[in-house]
Amino acid sequence: MSLERTAATEIAPATTELLADLAPIYDRMSRVVPEVEWRIHAPYIAEILRWREERNAVILAHNYQSPEIFHGIADYRGDSLGLAQFGARTDAEVIVLCGVHFMAETAAILSPEKTVLIPDVKAGCSLAESITGADIRLLKERHPGVPVVTYVNTSADVKAESDICCTSANAVEVVESLGVDKVIFLPDEFLGQWVASQTDVELILWKGHCEVHERFTGEEIKAYRAQDPSIYVLAHPECPQDVLAEADFVGSTSAMIQGVERSGASRVVMITECSMSDNVSVNFPQVDFVRPCNLCPHMQRITLPKVLEALQNLEHRVVVDPATSERARSAVARMLEVGRGPRG
Ligand code: 13P
Ligand code: SF4
Repeated sequence: MSLERTAATEIAPATTELLADLAPIYDRMSRVVPEVEWRIHAPYIAEILRWREERNAVILAHNYQSPEIFHGIADYRGDSLGLAQFGARTDAEVIVLCGVHFMAETAAILSPEKTVLIPDVKAGCSLAESITGADIRLLKERHPGVPVVTYVNTSADVKAESDICCTSANAVEVVESLGVDKVIFLPDEFLGQWVASQTDVELILWKGHCEVHERFTGEEIKAYRAQDPSIYVLAHPECPQDVLAEADFVGSTSAMIQGVERSGASRVVMITECSMSDNVSVNFPQVDFVRPCNLCPHMQRITLPKVLEALQNLEHRVVVDPATSERARSAVARMLEVGRGPRG
């Protein structure tokens, strides 16, 4: 074991001086992180910020990351599309992706010359697991000439077989950008059903689901409304159709944040991964957030000690083989040209 590797586990407890130095960072999250927990996080945050500079690294955090990561160490926070856009334009040598594997892989596809790190390689995604490149090849044989639109929540192999990628922030615009009557849309069936309800383009769907969003039900939303008819309901399009039918607003994780602001509501419920309500509530002290707690077990694998080890040891490096990467890059780059839709 190298000396660098032992450093993360032997971190010194927080001193009064360290807590004073980091007080402006704690101020950002004090509403959702108790002081007793902050004393444990603070020494890791101080070390991570030091190593971030040492490595000329940037830290990207998805909206579902826990508050100490989201508010404590991230240079950029956002949805899948925002992370891909930021990763493509940063000058940093190292990108640490606090999110799940497909997000880090997308960054590696867009920036093969950079060192892209994921703090835990097991941070996967049930949607990415639901389909392989071989599945897409079979679908293309069955539907010759029909273009393939692939959600970014997929592996590089799957992206390499696709014509264009999309995220929940631009799925409708991406589908319509192709100017065709019919597309194969993969792998999220619920996102596909929602896109189909917003466009005249016919979608051939796959039965992939997000293990977090598929658990919500329309009955749950009705129960929130029965308790408080003025509650504003925002849902992610990975939710089943009966949930989306009950929502006031449907959009990507970043669009949901804007939706809270625009709604002017005093009570909201975000039908999505529950760390997000903690992160967002910090910026809306006047809003009461009802928090249905469905956590994404993959997102929660990322912790401060693992981020520190990633920076110290430059691991776990996400590398995509050059041939796959080049084919996948054209599908991701084509999506970036479409950009963010009006609802994204
Ligand atoms: P967003 O692109 O909306 O951030 O969603 C990513 C995701 O994994 C949702 O479960
Ligand atoms: Fe994948 Fe669902 Fe987790 Fe998002 S919340 S990363 S779609 S398993």
